[in-house]
Amino acid sequence: MDFLENAVLPQSAHHMVLLKYLLALTFLIVLPYFTLLIGSSLLSVYYNSKSKRSDNTYYSKFSKQLIDLVTFNKSMSFGFGVVPILSAIFCYAQLLHMTDSGVPQNIFISLIFFLTGIVLIYTYKYSSHINDILGKIKDSDEESDIYKLKAVKLLNKTGKYGLVLLLVSAYLFIGSIELAIDSSRWGEDSSLLGIILSINTLTYFLYFIAASISVTSAVLLYFYFRPNYDWQENDPNYKSFVKKFALTRGLIATLILPALIVLNVFVTPAVALNGIVFGSIVIILFIVLLIANLFYLMLKESNTKFSSSVIYLFVILFTFLVIKEQAAFSTSTQNQFQKLSANYEEYRVKLNEELGIETVAVSGEDIFNGRCSACHKFDVKLVGPPYNSVLSKYVGKQDELAKFVLNPVKINPDYPVMPNQGLKPNEAKAIAEYILKVYQENQN
Ligand code: HEC
Repeated sequence: MDFLENAVLPQSAHHMVLLKYLLALTFLIVLPYFTLLIGSSLLSVYYNSKSKRSDNTYYSKFSKQLIDLVTFNKSMSFGFGVVPILSAIFCYAQLLHMTDSGVPQNIFISLIFFLTGIVLIYTYKYSSHINDILGKIKDSDEESDIYKLKAVKLLNKTGKYGLVLLLVSAYLFIGSIELAIDSSRWGEDSSLLGIILSINTLTYFLYFIAASISVTSAVLLYFYFRPNYDWQENDPNYKSFVKKFALTRGLIATLILPALIVLNVFVTPAVALNGIVFGSIVIILFIVLLIANLFYLMLKESNTKFSSSVIYLFVILFTFLVIKEQAAFSTSTQNQFQKLSANYEEYRVKLNEELGIETVAVSGEDIFNGRCSACHKFDVKLVGPPYNSVLSKYVGKQDELAKFVLNPVKINPDYPVMPNQGLKPNEAKAIAEYILKVYQENQN
């Protein structure tokens, strides 16, 4: 994937901080979306297949409502999915430049799975609607029966395959984020297989699945039980079926979360742990318990009055999750960032040389004091001749002087050859300018 390497620009320490903010923002968009997408597809496909085995008409209705939660708008998958994933790829390509972390490459593979998965999930959604329309045709003849059968088959297949592809995509995405945090695994373990077999990825994925059920339940309650939602039918039993489902599954999934969060702390690499990481985990645990409590209260009173609070709490939870991930990432990649900064300095000096711009850091006076004054003074003879006696011939010929300093040659038989001081061209230019200036001041 050379194109990623080619897209990388050298960056200063400041740019890296900006890139980290961008990465954090990216996660704040893609993680909630991904959680809801996986949760709703998972439950929808499950209830769709359940509806095939049972006479309960609620299941297929519910399956449709679930998938509509996250696919009500086609550009959503683009804005909340594709664009942020691309942005994550480029941020990581920049930040993990010159390492063999493999993170951007693996996220790229995850993106391919995402794209195919999302196309199938949208097909699934539309075929479920077509199915609905076909189902409403009363006087069925042979032809419409064949269409019905075909639509049902398409529905089942696209849903299942789409779900599997999205799960693979999520697994790889999570694995890549975790890999970015653990610099000790870069190299041999950063292959696709390394990510797949990592216990770290697996525990995080389980955490993600439980969270996705919990988030989906909360959004289900919030979205379908808002005051002005049009249910288009008035079966109170169905409504309470949906409500009860969302409340119980939401509560159960939320109660599983703390155990998975704690398990994750144990598998987090030591290089990534610090105070902010621990602090965020404590806050996340607290929020999870709060959410579980609200689910419980709603279930007890069989209402949905806290559903918007639960959504807000999830937003805060995701924020702390991102803070935690970024803190862990910064801690474990400190060395990498020093290396990149140094690389940037080198790049900047070279670029300035190429452009003929002097870098501010180079001062003739400093070079004189550090490199020349051991052998030269202006008026006294030391190892080398006093500048006042040799510089007259260089007045107005600063470039020639710089050339001599860069590459000293034998001049005066009374002195040994001046050793090469190993200066860079811009430094030679600065020192030549400086000693000529002082020389001329001394003459006046
Ligand atoms: C280790 C001692 C030593 C150091 C350090 C040293 N020089 Fe010299 N320098 C000499 C000697 C010896 C000569 C005489 C060489 C000759 O005449 O062949 C000399 C000669 C010169 C001359 C006279 C050249 C000429 O055309 O006559 C200049 C100008 C000069 N040095 C500049 C510098 C500058 C600038 C630095 C610092 C970057 C520097 N030197 C560092 C030993 C040194």
